[in-house]
Amino acid sequence: MPALHLIDAVKRRLHRDIVADPVLHARVLNLYLCGEAYPHAVDDYFPIEHVDCPDLASTMRAHMQDEDKHIALYAKAIEKLGCEVIDLDDSAIFNVVIRSHTPSPWRVEPGMDADARNDRIANFLAHAHFLEKRVAHSLEMHLDACAHSPSPYPGKAVSAVLSDENRHVAYTIDAVHDLVPRQRANDILAEHARAERRANLDFSSRTLLRLLREEADHWPAGRRPFFGAVAWAMRRMIAGA
Ligand SMILES: [Fe+2]
Ligand SMILES: [Fe+2]
Repeated sequence: MPALHLIDAVKRRLHRDIVADPVLHARVLNLYLCGEAYPHAVDDYFPIEHVDCPDLASTMRAHMQDEDKHIALYAKAIEKLGCEVIDLDDSAIFNVVIRSHTPSPWRVEPGMDADARNDRIANFLAHAHFLEKRVAHSLEMHLDACAHSPSPYPGKAVSAVLSDENRHVAYTIDAVHDLVPRQRANDILAEHARAERRANLDFSSRTLLRLLREEADHWPAGRRPFFGAVAWAMRRMIAGA
């Protein structure tokens, strides 16, 4: 079995252990929530004012509103688990970790012509595409695990979020192809795919190690050494990803 498929199998087991404990479950929902809130922390997400195509601009506007709705859904799910939303530092925000692995900027600078603007917008949408795709994949595993959760609300919330995320995955890649010539679109997508691949290993391993350390009493007996070893194996895979 290739290493990444093995990691997926381990992650499915991990999500089952997480939803079995309300504190761990809330911590993980909090991670998803912080990603949803990230666009409000920066000024270069959703550069709608620079988008010439009215249809794309309105789809991006709806996308932003979806993410705000997701913040509320996660916050309510955390509350239903008897926990509170907590602020997390940048290293716990997947968007930030992806950015740290992404060489190209997407900020639209003043005075850029239409081609340069579209190139930057395509870079933002490629970043969003691979981010959304990974989040959707993670939510699928999480939703599966939620069937075994003692609380029904988080599963309902995650299911609603997942259907929006799948829509975001689809339109963002189409828009990249509409905004720039084919070869340029492929190059942009390849760069952001690689950044996200590395960030996924970086973020997952770091986050797992942190949860194993900070919530040591909440894991099933004997599971921490195994998940710890998996996290360190993921860290060794980053350079080759
Ligand atoms: Fe979302
Ligand atoms: Fe999304």
